Amino acid sequence: MAPVKSLSSPIVIAHRGASGLRPEHTLASYTLAIEQGADFIEPDLVFTKDDIFVARHENDITGTTDVATHPEFADRKATKVIDGESHTGWFTEDFTLAELKTLRAKERLPQLRPDSAKYDGQFEVPTLAEIIALAKAQTKKTGRTIGIYPETKHPSYFASIGMPMEARLVAQLKAVGWDSADAPVFIQSFEVNNLKALHKLTKIRLIQLMDASGGPADKAAPRYAAMAMPEGLKAIARYAYGIGPNKNMIWNGVAPPTSLVADAHAVGLRLHPWTFRAENAFLPALFRDGTNPATHGQLSAEITAYLKLGVDGVFTDYPQIGARTVAAFK
Ligand code: G3P
Ligand code: CA
Repeated sequence: MAPVKSLSSPIVIAHRGASGLRPEHTLASYTLAIEQGADFIEPDLVFTKDDIFVARHENDITGTTDVATHPEFADRKATKVIDGESHTGWFTEDFTLAELKTLRAKERLPQLRPDSAKYDGQFEVPTLAEIIALAKAQTKKTGRTIGIYPETKHPSYFASIGMPMEARLVAQLKAVGWDSADAPVFIQSFEVNNLKALHKLTKIRLIQLMDASGGPADKAAPRYAAMAMPEGLKAIARYAYGIGPNKNMIWNGVAPPTSLVADAHAVGLRLHPWTFRAENAFLPALFRDGTNPATHGQLSAEITAYLKLGVDGVFTDYPQIGARTVAAFK
C-alpha cells in the first residue's frame, strides 16, 4: 500500500461534513466531504442517555431530526435551561442510542438548502465510533490522512447532569491510537475549563473557540473580545494549540482586517476561523451574487482573502470549494 500522505497547512475542515449539500452531521455528509477533499471532518458531540457520544450540533434534536413526527417519543418533549437559555424540544440525553437510531436526520436550513433537504429522512444520527471508523477507513482507501475535529458541546451542562465529557472522550480516542500531538485530531470547545481539563489528560491538540460577541458558558474567562487580545491569547497558549475564531474577528469584509492573525501567531497559536458558507445569506456584501439569500456567491474569493491574511485552516460547509481554493493558494 502507498504511504499515507500527512497533513499540511492550511487545512480544510468539513464543518458538520459537507453540510451545504447533505443534512449535517450524518455519515453521508462526512463521506461526501472526504470525497470532496476535506482534511478533517467535524463532529459536534453530545451524549445519549446511555453515555455514548453522537454527532449533533446541540443536544436539542428538534430542528435536525424527525423526532417530532414519532408519536412514541411525544412524552419526551421537555423544557430545559442549557447554557442559560431555555429550550423546548427533544434532547439526546433522554434517548438511548437504540432509540436515537430510529430517528432520521433532516436539513436545518431547507429554505437556503433545498437540494440538501431532498435527503431528509434518509440518514441516521451517527456515533463518534462510526465517525472514527469512517475516517480511518477513508484514510486507508484514499491514501490521504483524514482527521477528525470533534467539538465538545455544552460540556458544563452535561457535567451538571452527571455526564462529564473530557475523560470519556480522551479514553475513546486513546483506544483507537489517538493520544499524541501528531494524531490527526483536534478537540475544540467554546468553554475554557473543559479545555484546561483536557490539557491535563491528553497531548491531542486543543482549539479554543471564540465568538464575535459574548463569552464562554462556563464563565471561566473574560468575554471572547478580551480573550482575543494579546494578554488573553497568551493565556490560551498555555493550554491550547490554536484558536477557532468567528471569521468576523479577523475581517468582516468591510473594515480593515484586525490584528488577530498576527497577535495569535505571535504567541504560537494557529487560527482556524469559521464558518465559510457559499450562500449570499452568509457572505459579506462584496462576495455576494445578486440578492437572493440562497444563491451562491463567491465563496472561493472569500476563503482566498482569509488565506492571504495568514489563517492556518478554514471551517467550511462546502469542502470542495475549500479544498480547491486551498490547493490553488498553495
Ligand atoms: O466549531 C467551529 C464552529 O463549528 C463553531 O460553531 O456553532 O457551528 O459549532 P458551531
Ligand atoms: Ca462546531
